[in-house]
Amino acid sequence: MFAQRLANVAGSATLKAAAEAERLRRAGFNVVDFTAGEPDFPTPHHVKAAGKAAIDANFTRYTAAAGIPELREAICTWYKVHYGIDLTPAEVLLTAGGKQALFNAALALFDPGDEVITHAPYWPTIPEQIKLVSATPVIVQTRSDEGFAVHAEAVIGAITPRTKGIIINSPCNPTGALVDEATLAPIVEAAAKRGIWIVLDLCYEQLIYDEVPHNLPKVLFDRHRDRTVIAGSASKSYAMTGWRCGWSIAPKPLTSAFNTIQGQTTSNITSITQKAALAAVSGPQDAVHVMLAEYRTRRDAIHGWLTAHPAIKCVKPKGAFYLFPDISALLSSDGLSTSADFAQALLEQEHVAVTAGEGFDAPGYLRISYATSMEQLREGATRILRFAESLRPAKAGVAR
Ligand SMILES: Cc1ncc(COP(=O)(O)O)c(C=O)c1O
Repeated sequence: MFAQRLANVAGSATLKAAAEAERLRRAGFNVVDFTAGEPDFPTPHHVKAAGKAAIDANFTRYTAAAGIPELREAICTWYKVHYGIDLTPAEVLLTAGGKQALFNAALALFDPGDEVITHAPYWPTIPEQIKLVSATPVIVQTRSDEGFAVHAEAVIGAITPRTKGIIINSPCNPTGALVDEATLAPIVEAAAKRGIWIVLDLCYEQLIYDEVPHNLPKVLFDRHRDRTVIAGSASKSYAMTGWRCGWSIAPKPLTSAFNTIQGQTTSNITSITQKAALAAVSGPQDAVHVMLAEYRTRRDAIHGWLTAHPAIKCVKPKGAFYLFPDISALLSSDGLSTSADFAQALLEQEHVAVTAGEGFDAPGYLRISYATSMEQLREGATRILRFAESLRPAKAGVAR
């Protein structure tokens, strides 16, 4: 009945988990919800004020499909200041979140039969968008005992004559891992030799906890600028998920193709959002630093609490706001045998909602969003530890 392209495309595991939590909450349970894929902070005051002013000034009509020039300009300036790369507004297009930037890229670049390489554990939208355009995702696994590091040889080894693109996400949802400049460089060089596109999902670029080199745009621009797409977003950096503002940075001809796609589908992103995003990108950045500092404190706390349990192993995330613990030592063939079972039982018994690793191509793991209050984190950690202890106290070596 429906188009073939939908046959293999899955819905969002995170949204399903959040809906389950909401069902329990409405039934009157005190649910601790760790499924959020978005900041719990309000949009900064000056950004909201710019949105309100836009309404009052009747800035409520269509804009150019690619967005208003002053915001595209401001994004160029932002990338110049932060990464030292020179852009023109003709290379920037505003999208309804980073999600639409990535989907525009998939639509414009990938044909049925093309292979597109990405790394796992992944944000599920990445492979699902590849499937939506009838191309084939090729997955390179990363390992928690290596900090979920992407290895250049593994990505390059996955290239075939059918490879059309490589999608890299850093900081990564769900692992919080970063891709090193030194890892990206040989991948880009291999792609450049073969004319393969690189799509870099940088939507969490302002949520990196330590001062580490992460100038991936420069690595790309120095080597392969004419086949590079960067997806950026105001959602996570500026607590603006509901406003829907992202952008693509791509060579001019590809940006024109995105403009055609968007012009015939959604047109411009909301005019009011554009004015608010202009204030976000070009105004004071204090709120970003305050939120980052708070996420860091929360990360350290929840990481410390959970890893105190000997059966829970967890890499400390370097970016984004998710913990991705390995709970496989708590699974057993005669009890909860998968992380999906674990997440379901945790929800039913302790009313803690997490997203099971299966949704990220990582069975045996849980994704815990720490974009929630310290009180909720403390309470949720207590419940998770109690639940873990109830499962395998003897094996896990927990004193009773
Ligand atoms: C890795 C990653 N990229 C991109 C996005 C896109 O977010 P938005 O469309 O709100 O910019 C998300 C959202 O969760 C994400 O996790």
